[in-house]
Amino acid sequence: MTKRETFGSSFGVLAAAAGSAIGLGNIWKFPYITGENGGAAFVLVYLICIALVGVPVMFAELLIGRRTQSASVGAFKALAPKQAWFLTGWFGVVAAFMILSFYGVVAGWTLNYTYLSVTNQFAGATPEQISKMFDSFITNGTQPIFWQMIFMVMTAFIVLSGVKDGIEKYSKIMMPMLFVIVVVLAIRGMTLDGASKGIDFLLTPDFSKLTAQSVLVALGHCFFTLSLGMGAMLVYGSYTGKTQSLGKLALQVTLADTAIALLAGLAIFPAVFAFGVNPGQGPGLAFVTLPNVFNQMPGGYFFAIAFFVLLAVAALTSAISLLEVLVTFLCEEFKFGRIMATIVATLTSSVLGVLCALSMSPTSGVSKLKFPTLAGPQNFFDTMDWWSSNMLLPLGGLLVIVFAGWFMKPADVRDELSSQGLYAVKWFKAFQIAARFIAPIAIVVVLVAKISGKIS
Ligand code: PHE
Repeated sequence: MTKRETFGSSFGVLAAAAGSAIGLGNIWKFPYITGENGGAAFVLVYLICIALVGVPVMFAELLIGRRTQSASVGAFKALAPKQAWFLTGWFGVVAAFMILSFYGVVAGWTLNYTYLSVTNQFAGATPEQISKMFDSFITNGTQPIFWQMIFMVMTAFIVLSGVKDGIEKYSKIMMPMLFVIVVVLAIRGMTLDGASKGIDFLLTPDFSKLTAQSVLVALGHCFFTLSLGMGAMLVYGSYTGKTQSLGKLALQVTLADTAIALLAGLAIFPAVFAFGVNPGQGPGLAFVTLPNVFNQMPGGYFFAIAFFVLLAVAALTSAISLLEVLVTFLCEEFKFGRIMATIVATLTSSVLGVLCALSMSPTSGVSKLKFPTLAGPQNFFDTMDWWSSNMLLPLGGLLVIVFAGWFMKPADVRDELSSQGLYAVKWFKAFQIAARFIAPIAIVVVLVAKISGKIS
């Protein structure tokens, strides 16, 4: 067997794994679902999900990946031969296709917004005009597809360049840059006139606004934002060197991801209230509020460019992990070569993505199609998002954590988490309790409540 490619340095691993976690989920999705679900109380539930469910599941994925040196399906086949556990990998593959389809579309929006900022098209526009620009762009049909295609080609290019010279190299440069720019924008947001309302909305919980539905959304988002439940962290675990501390890696990734989400909230919500945008307005939130902020800032022209470039980059480092899941799957299970696998996976998810883009355009037939979800009929884009984020990822996460908590030998789990005894894992008992009881029970309760209609 040829030796599996690994990341080159521990900073490289961190950048790649944080690059996967930090993406549109933090800067685009987190603020708008927080807006739709009433603000700070939702944020609190989300943070609890991260701590009690997200962290243990991340440990489990990393350790299973590194132990088996395979992607998800192969990993479960290796650890539980002739058993149905490998289906966990298959669920993940389906989820990766679904997520990559709509993710590519939104990432395409970020490229278009980069172009609009370079050509200075927000200058002098009123908040209403900025919001109209967004609506007419996403409902245009062809334009979003054009940008989506460019994005998918970029993603495929990096994945083709390989783990160390593609994924790791790009993440190491881009992630620190993203961090700096988000901090600057958060400071700008918090110093806007009337910022306090936005800060309160994000940080002062009002539990009367919390609905049971929000709890499902918070749990689903905890998986989405940390790239869990579909094998991305598992594959990255398989590229992680044997002497790396998995515990430290998981905590650093989680902290960085959470920090970026909260900072994005601090950049966006003060502006939402200052410019009279509706916080519950949905997927356009970041795209219709931030251009107003840039218009009001000295050097706004440059900040706008920097922001949208980096948002595109954050999306890129996440999309490569989604594509990597599909590529390793095709290579390992169907013996595709890396190039062929990349082409097939990119084409398939791009076609699904075209349907996502068209489902937002009222003049296309696709927008008339509605698909069932437990939250009522939705268009193709929302259906892909709903089933993957709210059902497949929690289900995948549940299977992974039950596998690590109950099925694997505790001695093996400990051996891997401690890097064969290199690190003292004093927290091992705590991990076991979380993996055996807390995380599975929390996921099951939320899923069962949702499916049985207790949460509508
Ligand atoms: N975590 C990424 C984000 O927040 C999205 C993602 C989900 C990436 C699942 C990989 C796997 O944008």
